Amino acid sequence: PTERSLVLIKPDAVRRGLLGEILSRFEGKGLVIEALELRTMDGSLADAHYAEHVDKAFYPPLKDFMTSGPLAALILSGDSVIEVVRAMIGATDGRKAAAGTIRGDLALSNRENLVHASDSPESAERELALWFPKF
Ligand code: CMP
Repeated sequence: PTERSLVLIKPDAVRRGLLGEILSRFEGKGLVIEALELRTMDGSLADAHYAEHVDKAFYPPLKDFMTSGPLAALILSGDSVIEVVRAMIGATDGRKAAAGTIRGDLALSNRENLVHASDSPESAERELALWFPKF
C-alpha cells in the first residue's frame, strides 16, 4: 500500500555534497518527494525526534552531530515506502552496511551515516507530525 516516510538526509551528506546523489537514488526508485526542506535541527527537536535514544551513551555526540548544520527533511511516499527506504539505506553502521545500499556505498561510520528514515508506520506518523505538522 502507498504510505509515507519521514527521511532526513543528515548534515554529513550535505557537507559532503551527497544530497543530489541520495535524492537521485530515491527518485530513481520511483518514490515521490512530497515535501523537501533544508533545515538546521535545534536541540529540542533533536530530543523529541530521538526520544527513544536520549538516555543512551551515544546520544550526546549524536545530538551534536545532528544539530551541526543543515540537513534535508523529506516526506517520501510510495508503495511500502517505509520498508523500501530502510532497505535502500542499509544497516546503521556504514562499515557493516551491504554494498549497494546508500550507507554501504557512501558511509564509514556508525554515527555519521548520511540518512535517517522512519522504521515503522507508528514512527512515521510520529516523525511526520514532528517535522511537517501542516501535513
Ligand atoms: P538513525 O537511523 O538516525 O537512528 C539513530 C541514530 O543514532 C543512528 O541513525 C546513528 O546515527 C546513531 N547511532 C545509533 N547507534 C549508534 C552507536 N552505537 N554509536 C553511535 N551512533 C549511533
